[in-house]
Amino acid sequence: MPKVPIAIAGIGNAASAFVQFLAYYQAEKRNEKVLGGLSVSDIEVVAAFDVTEAKVGKDLSEAIFAEPNNCPVFVDVPETGVIVQKGPVEDGVGDLLAKVVKISDKPSVDVAQVLKDTNAEILINLLPSGVKKATEVYAQAAIDAECAFVQCSTHRIASSYKWARKFKKAGLPVAGDDLQSKLGGTRIHKGLLELLDTFGARIVSTYQLDVSGGAEGLNTLDPDRRYDKRFIKTETIRRTIPYLTENDVVSGTTDFLEFMGNNRTSYFWIDAKYGINSRLKIDITIKSTDGPNAAETLIDVVRGVKLGLDRGIDGPLISVSVYGFKYAPVFVSEATASKMFSEFVEGHRLR
Ligand SMILES: NC(=O)c1ccc[n+]([C@@H]2O[C@H](COP(=O)([O-])OP(=O)(O)OC[C@H]3O[C@@H](n4cnc5c(N)ncnc54)[C@H](O)[C@@H]3O)[C@@H](O)[C@H]2O)c1
Repeated sequence: MPKVPIAIAGIGNAASAFVQFLAYYQAEKRNEKVLGGLSVSDIEVVAAFDVTEAKVGKDLSEAIFAEPNNCPVFVDVPETGVIVQKGPVEDGVGDLLAKVVKISDKPSVDVAQVLKDTNAEILINLLPSGVKKATEVYAQAAIDAECAFVQCSTHRIASSYKWARKFKKAGLPVAGDDLQSKLGGTRIHKGLLELLDTFGARIVSTYQLDVSGGAEGLNTLDPDRRYDKRFIKTETIRRTIPYLTENDVVSGTTDFLEFMGNNRTSYFWIDAKYGINSRLKIDITIKSTDGPNAAETLIDVVRGVKLGLDRGIDGPLISVSVYGFKYAPVFVSEATASKMFSEFVEGHRLR
């Protein structure tokens, strides 16, 4: 039995980078950052779900490179023996994604049964932003199969009173919502604002506008899905500086350009006052790659959730959520979030 057997729903770019990270650490067995006694190579994927013809029925090592995925290839991933199964489609594929993928005509499996049969302990939800019904079906399947749940997309699960209670009642941990890239636009934006605030500047207005070329960029052009992502990204920035109002902040995925591949360009603007009405303006651009930025966070989050499971913690894992997600059940500064996560890993914090 692997030490950390996990299942993944949504074999897109983030899953591709994550599986490549696992293969890299499995092969190298070096440079591993051990966390709470768990190595990255202790994590093993035992089940995988998607809904598109290009991915369902394929070995995971092949499905992670199937179109429209465009996460760069970092390592050779040997055959895993894990065949991607067709999950419940529900609202998973929006109108825009439906133009570039074909939904598999295979029947959907019983997700809870697969999780039980494969002895999965954690289900990671990597569905596109704005997917509500399918996310809830996977969350319920995790509960039915006695698995912990990691909510990487935007629908509120860990931060929802209803779902947090369901996981608590089932005696299972849940972490979320909406994964935060390890060193992506949101964390860098928050970090800059916190820095200015710490040293006495008053933020007047700020935005972060993104252009990207992954399937998620296309998905978030869909008005409903765009709204969900923009709401969470804006809210997590706004709450960094409590006096900012909705009129002072915007953060959201703005456009999709296929030729950018899995890359993202984030344009930041910050207008702040300091001294006696002096003005400080920051106008910068950051370029990053989405998949590996997600995988970096996920390898920590999964091990944090496994520690929560082993410690018998039920309901939302606050420390893991504030560290790894944009919309956790509570909002704290980035520095506090990192400290809380370390304390939790070391066993000095309950949840
Ligand atoms: N840096 C990052 O990549 C990053 C950062 C923060 C949050 N996230 C979030 O992680 C999630 C995944 O991102 P991504 O870039 O991998 O997206 P993606 O679009 O590349 O992958 C999503 C996958 O889900 C599959 N899918 C759709 N409906 C499904 C269903 N009902 N059942 C199973 N699979 C289904 C799609 O076919 C696709 O393979 C998104 O919600 C995104 O917002 C990613």
